[in-house]
Amino acid sequence: MARADRATLAAPAAALTPFQEAVLRWSDAGGWRDLPWRQTRAPWAILVSEVMLQQTQVVRVIPRWEAFLARFPDPASCAAAPVAEVIGLWSGLGYNRRAVHLHRAAAAMVVRHDGQLPSTLAELLALPGLGPYTARAVMAFAFGFPEAVVDTNVARVLARAVAGRRLSAAEAQAAADSLVPAVPASLAWTWNQALLDLGAQHCTSLRPSCAQCPLRAQHCAWATAHFPQPDPATGSAAVSQRQAPFAGSDRQGRGRLVKMLQRGPLPRGEWAGAAGWPGDDGRAARVAASLVADGLAVQAGDQLALP
Ligand code: ADE
Repeated sequence: MARADRATLAAPAAALTPFQEAVLRWSDAGGWRDLPWRQTRAPWAILVSEVMLQQTQVVRVIPRWEAFLARFPDPASCAAAPVAEVIGLWSGLGYNRRAVHLHRAAAAMVVRHDGQLPSTLAELLALPGLGPYTARAVMAFAFGFPEAVVDTNVARVLARAVAGRRLSAAEAQAAADSLVPAVPASLAWTWNQALLDLGAQHCTSLRPSCAQCPLRAQHCAWATAHFPQPDPATGSAAVSQRQAPFAGSDRQGRGRLVKMLQRGPLPRGEWAGAAGWPGDDGRAARVAASLVADGLAVQAGDQLALP
């Protein structure tokens, strides 16, 4: 959708609160990022973007999202492909399990929904690998329902600016639900994207740019209270906590092993080298078993292969 087509404050809405106005004015004034998945309402394209964006930065997602949709323009084409090919297209995004889940969800859509994405929260949640965040994001960004989307960026804004304290999952969702503008309906889409961007660009995890934040003057509970510690976002539900270093992690070894498997099956004696831990056969065997358990690899005798 062209930027000019989305709902803006120029189209008067039913009484907005000062907080809502501050967020939407910032968005209207250019805070909102023009990202490729914001140009579409195609449910499958939105789903793929949201699954990719859950653990991966926007700049890394953009080219992979485009390549993925060029190869798999709909659930049926994805479901018909071997899962190994879906994993291959995922390579470099990390957390390859998401590719397996997406492939399973595509297959379920073919069987249950005639190859389409369903448009109720309950049916979306019943698809393999779709959690509350992804299901709500599809409802809001593809189907235009006034659902409140709470990802890690939004959760930080809710804890700091809205509540000024750490929130449970239920509290964060309730706070988000209470803020989504209901009228006009198209404003809910803009609202969710704006809140995501405010969290991603100003209310960041480390070193938030409070001095430039449109909420700082009077709309941020944490700023108004002069930033008491601990940071309300720390430990709040849906706020991702700092990850253990990637270098040297099992996650790194898993990623390397999956990448090597794309060239062909590997005998047991080569797993440790492929994972980057030459000589540590025990660790490599553990990681290989975890790949099999997650549907990312299969083992036949001494050979490990993509499924
Ligand atoms: N992170 C999760 N969903 C997003 C979206 N729609 N735009 C930007 N970042 C996101």
